[in-house]
Amino acid sequence: MQAWVGGERLHLGAEAEVISGSWYGRPAILKKRRQRGWRHPDLDKSLTSKRMTNEIKLTIWLAEKGAPVPAIWDVDLDEASIIMEKIDGRPLIEVLRSGSYDNNLLNKVGRAIRFFHRNAVNHGDLSTNNILITNEGEAILIDLGLATREYELEGLGIDLHVLHEILRASHPDIENAMDEVLEGYLGLDNELGEAPEAPGGQPPSAKDVLKRLEQIMKRVRYHGR
Ligand SMILES: Nc1ncnc2c1ncn2[C@@H]1O[C@H](COP(=O)(O)OP(=O)(O)OP(=O)(O)O)[C@@H](O)[C@H]1O
Ligand SMILES: [Mg+2]
Repeated sequence: MQAWVGGERLHLGAEAEVISGSWYGRPAILKKRRQRGWRHPDLDKSLTSKRMTNEIKLTIWLAEKGAPVPAIWDVDLDEASIIMEKIDGRPLIEVLRSGSYDNNLLNKVGRAIRFFHRNAVNHGDLSTNNILITNEGEAILIDLGLATREYELEGLGIDLHVLHEILRASHPDIENAMDEVLEGYLGLDNELGEAPEAPGGQPPSAKDVLKRLEQIMKRVRYHGR
Protein backbone atom coordinates (compact mmCIF):
# COMPACT_ATOMS: atom_id res chain seq x y z
CA MET A 1 0.00 0.00 0.00
CA GLN A 2 1.11 3.48 -0.84
CA ALA A 3 2.78 5.52 1.88
CA TRP A 4 2.69 2.66 4.34
CA VAL A 5 5.84 1.91 6.37
CA GLY A 6 5.49 -1.24 8.43
CA GLY A 7 6.92 -1.88 11.87
CA GLU A 8 6.37 -4.46 14.60
CA ARG A 9 3.53 -6.94 14.77
CA LEU A 10 1.03 -6.02 17.49
CA HIS A 11 -1.31 -8.96 17.24
CA LEU A 12 -1.61 -12.34 15.56
CA GLY A 13 -5.02 -13.91 16.07
CA ALA A 14 -7.12 -16.51 14.31
CA GLU A 15 -8.83 -13.91 12.13
CA ALA A 16 -6.39 -11.09 11.75
CA GLU A 17 -2.81 -9.91 11.92
CA VAL A 18 -2.23 -6.35 13.11
CA ILE A 19 1.01 -4.52 12.33
CA SER A 20 2.04 -1.18 13.72
CA GLY A 21 3.57 1.38 11.35
CA SER A 22 3.03 4.73 9.76
CA TRP A 23 0.93 6.08 6.90
CA TYR A 24 2.19 9.34 5.39
CA GLY A 25 4.16 9.68 8.58
CA ARG A 26 1.17 9.33 10.90
CA PRO A 27 0.95 6.49 13.45
CA ALA A 28 -1.12 3.76 11.79
CA ILE A 29 -1.89 0.07 11.92
CA LEU A 30 -2.36 -2.42 9.12
CA LYS A 31 -5.05 -5.01 9.83
CA LYS A 32 -4.83 -7.96 7.50
CA ARG A 33 -7.45 -10.69 7.53
CA ARG A 34 -5.86 -14.13 7.61
CA GLN A 35 -6.62 -17.11 5.38
CA ARG A 36 -8.40 -19.81 7.33
CA GLY A 37 -6.86 -23.06 6.12
CA TRP A 38 -9.73 -25.29 7.14
CA ARG A 39 -12.33 -23.50 5.04
CA HIS A 40 -12.74 -23.94 1.30
CA PRO A 41 -10.68 -21.15 -0.35
CA ASP A 42 -13.69 -19.68 -2.20
CA LEU A 43 -15.87 -19.68 0.88
CA ASP A 44 -12.98 -18.33 2.87
CA LYS A 45 -12.50 -15.48 0.43
CA SER A 46 -16.15 -14.53 0.39
CA LEU A 47 -16.48 -14.66 4.20
CA THR A 48 -13.30 -12.65 4.58
CA SER A 49 -14.35 -9.95 2.18
CA LYS A 50 -17.85 -9.83 3.66
CA ARG A 51 -16.52 -9.21 7.13
CA MET A 52 -14.02 -6.73 5.89
CA THR A 53 -16.41 -4.66 3.81
CA ASN A 54 -18.76 -4.72 6.76
CA GLU A 55 -16.07 -3.41 9.06
CA ILE A 56 -15.09 -0.70 6.59
CA LYS A 57 -18.60 0.47 5.73
CA LEU A 58 -19.85 0.73 9.28
CA THR A 59 -16.65 2.21 10.69
CA ILE A 60 -16.67 4.95 8.05
CA TRP A 61 -20.38 5.64 8.51
CA LEU A 62 -19.98 5.91 12.28
CA ALA A 63 -16.87 8.07 12.01
CA GLU A 64 -18.88 10.52 9.93
CA LYS A 65 -21.37 10.73 12.76
CA GLY A 66 -18.56 11.53 15.19
CA ALA A 67 -18.51 8.10 16.85
CA PRO A 68 -15.44 6.96 18.81
CA VAL A 69 -13.85 4.74 16.13
CA PRO A 70 -10.42 4.86 14.44
CA ALA A 71 -10.25 6.70 11.11
CA ILE A 72 -9.89 4.38 8.12
CA TRP A 73 -7.22 5.69 5.78
CA ASP A 74 -6.74 3.07 3.10
CA VAL A 75 -8.19 -0.25 2.02
CA ASP A 76 -6.99 -3.08 -0.21
CA LEU A 77 -9.81 -5.53 -0.84
CA ASP A 78 -7.65 -7.99 -2.81
CA GLU A 79 -5.15 -8.19 0.02
CA ALA A 80 -7.96 -8.07 2.59
CA SER A 81 -6.20 -5.34 4.47
CA ILE A 82 -7.11 -2.01 6.03
CA ILE A 83 -4.87 0.84 7.12
CA MET A 84 -6.29 2.84 9.97
CA GLU A 85 -5.39 5.39 12.57
CA LYS A 86 -3.39 3.90 15.42
CA ILE A 87 -5.11 4.47 18.73
CA ASP A 88 -2.53 5.31 21.33
CA GLY A 89 -3.71 3.44 24.37
CA ARG A 90 -4.49 0.05 25.88
CA PRO A 91 -7.36 -2.44 25.69
CA LEU A 92 -9.94 -2.10 28.47
CA ILE A 93 -9.03 -5.55 29.80
CA GLU A 94 -5.51 -4.35 30.61
CA VAL A 95 -6.64 -1.05 32.06
CA LEU A 96 -9.07 -2.82 34.40
CA ARG A 97 -6.42 -5.35 35.41
CA SER A 98 -3.92 -2.61 36.17
CA GLY A 99 -6.37 -1.23 38.73
CA SER A 100 -5.45 2.37 38.05
CA TYR A 101 -7.96 4.36 36.04
CA ASP A 102 -10.30 7.33 36.27
CA ASN A 103 -13.57 6.66 38.02
CA ASN A 104 -15.53 7.71 34.95
CA LEU A 105 -13.80 5.12 32.74
CA LEU A 106 -16.73 2.69 32.57
CA ASN A 107 -19.18 5.54 32.14
CA LYS A 108 -17.27 6.54 29.03
CA VAL A 109 -17.37 2.98 27.77
CA GLY A 110 -21.17 3.06 28.11
CA ARG A 111 -21.36 6.34 26.22
CA ALA A 112 -19.25 4.92 23.40
CA ILE A 113 -21.54 1.91 23.06
CA ARG A 114 -24.63 4.11 23.11
CA PHE A 115 -23.12 6.22 20.37
CA PHE A 116 -23.15 3.13 18.17
CA HIS A 117 -26.67 2.11 19.18
CA ARG A 118 -28.06 5.63 18.71
CA ASN A 119 -26.89 5.32 15.14
CA ALA A 120 -28.48 1.89 14.72
CA VAL A 121 -25.23 -0.07 14.75
CA ASN A 122 -24.77 -3.18 16.83
CA HIS A 123 -21.07 -3.78 17.55
CA GLY A 124 -21.50 -7.55 17.68
CA ASP A 125 -18.30 -8.40 19.57
CA LEU A 126 -18.07 -6.23 22.66
CA SER A 127 -15.19 -7.86 24.46
CA THR A 128 -12.79 -5.94 26.68
CA ASN A 129 -10.15 -6.45 23.96
CA ASN A 130 -12.19 -4.55 21.41
CA ILE A 131 -12.52 -1.43 23.56
CA LEU A 132 -9.36 0.68 23.54
CA ILE A 133 -8.73 3.31 26.19
CA THR A 134 -6.60 6.23 25.05
CA ASN A 135 -3.98 7.85 27.23
CA GLU A 136 -6.49 10.67 27.72
CA GLY A 137 -9.01 8.16 29.08
CA GLU A 138 -11.36 8.10 26.07
CA ALA A 139 -13.02 4.84 24.98
CA ILE A 140 -12.67 3.88 21.30
CA LEU A 141 -14.44 0.83 19.87
CA ILE A 142 -12.57 -1.27 17.31
CA ASP A 143 -13.01 -4.54 15.40
CA LEU A 144 -16.34 -4.05 13.63
CA GLY A 145 -16.16 -7.24 11.54
CA LEU A 146 -19.31 -8.59 13.19
CA ALA A 147 -21.15 -5.28 13.43
CA THR A 148 -24.64 -5.07 11.95
CA ARG A 149 -27.40 -2.59 11.34
CA GLU A 150 -29.86 -3.01 14.18
CA TYR A 151 -33.21 -1.45 15.01
CA GLU A 152 -34.57 -4.12 17.36
CA LEU A 153 -34.37 -3.99 21.15
CA GLU A 154 -33.29 -7.61 21.36
CA GLY A 155 -30.16 -7.17 19.23
CA LEU A 156 -29.03 -4.06 21.08
CA GLY A 157 -29.80 -5.67 24.44
CA ILE A 158 -27.69 -8.68 23.54
CA ASP A 159 -24.80 -6.43 22.52
CA LEU A 160 -24.77 -5.07 26.09
CA HIS A 161 -25.33 -8.49 27.58
CA VAL A 162 -22.16 -9.84 25.99
CA LEU A 163 -20.09 -7.15 27.69
CA HIS A 164 -21.90 -7.74 30.98
CA GLU A 165 -21.01 -11.44 30.95
CA ILE A 166 -17.39 -10.69 30.15
CA LEU A 167 -17.07 -8.09 32.91
CA ARG A 168 -18.71 -10.45 35.38
CA ALA A 169 -16.46 -13.35 34.45
CA SER A 170 -13.13 -11.57 34.17
CA HIS A 171 -13.48 -8.66 36.60
CA PRO A 172 -15.80 -9.83 39.40
CA ASP A 173 -13.74 -7.72 41.80
CA ILE A 174 -14.94 -4.53 40.17
CA GLU A 175 -18.24 -3.94 41.86
CA ASN A 176 -21.01 -2.35 39.86
CA ALA A 177 -18.86 -2.31 36.73
CA MET A 178 -21.88 -2.82 34.48
CA ASP A 179 -23.96 -0.29 36.44
CA GLU A 180 -21.41 2.35 35.55
CA VAL A 181 -21.43 1.31 31.90
CA LEU A 182 -25.22 1.57 31.85
CA GLU A 183 -25.18 4.93 33.56
CA GLY A 184 -23.04 6.25 30.71
CA TYR A 185 -25.28 4.51 28.18
CA LEU A 186 -28.36 6.30 29.56
CA GLY A 187 -26.47 9.51 30.18
CA LEU A 188 -25.73 10.06 26.50
CA ASP A 189 -29.44 10.04 25.62
CA ASN A 190 -30.21 12.35 28.54
CA GLU A 191 -27.66 14.72 27.12
CA LEU A 192 -28.38 14.45 23.40
CA GLY A 193 -32.09 13.64 23.41
CA GLU A 194 -33.81 11.22 21.08
CA ALA A 195 -31.65 9.14 18.74
CA PRO A 196 -31.44 10.66 15.25
CA GLU A 197 -33.26 9.03 12.35
CA ALA A 198 -31.06 6.32 10.78
CA PRO A 199 -31.42 4.83 7.26
CA GLY A 200 -33.89 2.17 8.45
CA GLY A 201 -35.90 4.29 10.87
CA GLN A 202 -35.81 5.39 14.47
CA PRO A 203 -33.40 3.47 16.75
CA PRO A 204 -34.83 2.53 20.18
CA SER A 205 -34.17 4.74 23.21
CA ALA A 206 -31.49 3.86 25.76
CA LYS A 207 -34.18 3.43 28.39
CA ASP A 208 -36.02 0.82 26.34
CA VAL A 209 -32.80 -1.06 25.56
CA LEU A 210 -31.99 -1.22 29.27
CA LYS A 211 -35.44 -2.61 30.05
CA ARG A 212 -34.86 -5.30 27.46
CA LEU A 213 -31.40 -6.03 28.88
CA GLU A 214 -33.02 -6.70 32.27
CA GLN A 215 -35.40 -9.16 30.63
CA ILE A 216 -32.54 -10.85 28.81
CA MET A 217 -30.63 -11.20 32.09
CA LYS A 218 -33.62 -12.82 33.80
CA ARG A 219 -34.16 -15.13 30.86
CA VAL A 220 -30.52 -16.23 30.88
CA ARG A 221 -30.67 -16.86 34.62
CA TYR A 222 -33.68 -19.16 34.29
CA HIS A 223 -33.27 -20.75 30.89
CA GLY A 224 -29.61 -20.25 30.04
CA ARG A 225 -30.30 -18.20 26.90
N1 LIG B 1 -6.70 1.10 15.39
C1 LIG B 1 -5.96 0.44 16.29
N2 LIG B 1 -5.09 1.11 17.08
C2 LIG B 1 -4.34 0.44 17.99
N3 LIG B 1 -4.39 -0.90 18.19
C3 LIG B 1 -5.23 -1.62 17.43
C4 LIG B 1 -6.06 -1.00 16.44
N4 LIG B 1 -6.79 -1.96 15.84
C5 LIG B 1 -6.42 -3.12 16.41
N5 LIG B 1 -5.49 -2.94 17.37
C6 LIG B 1 -4.87 -3.97 18.22
O1 LIG B 1 -4.89 -5.21 17.56
C7 LIG B 1 -5.74 -6.15 18.25
C8 LIG B 1 -6.50 -7.00 17.26
O2 LIG B 1 -7.32 -6.18 16.42
P1 LIG B 1 -8.82 -6.55 16.12
O3 LIG B 1 -9.57 -6.70 17.40
O4 LIG B 1 -9.35 -5.56 15.15
O5 LIG B 1 -8.64 -7.96 15.40
P2 LIG B 1 -9.48 -9.31 15.58
O6 LIG B 1 -10.48 -9.36 14.48
O7 LIG B 1 -9.99 -9.43 16.98
O8 LIG B 1 -8.43 -10.43 15.36
P3 LIG B 1 -8.51 -11.94 15.91
O9 LIG B 1 -9.97 -12.34 15.84
O10 LIG B 1 -7.66 -12.68 14.93
O11 LIG B 1 -7.95 -11.93 17.30
C9 LIG B 1 -6.63 -5.29 19.14
O12 LIG B 1 -7.09 -5.99 20.29
C10 LIG B 1 -5.69 -4.13 19.48
O13 LIG B 1 -4.85 -4.47 20.55
MG1 LIG C 1 -10.67 -8.11 18.37
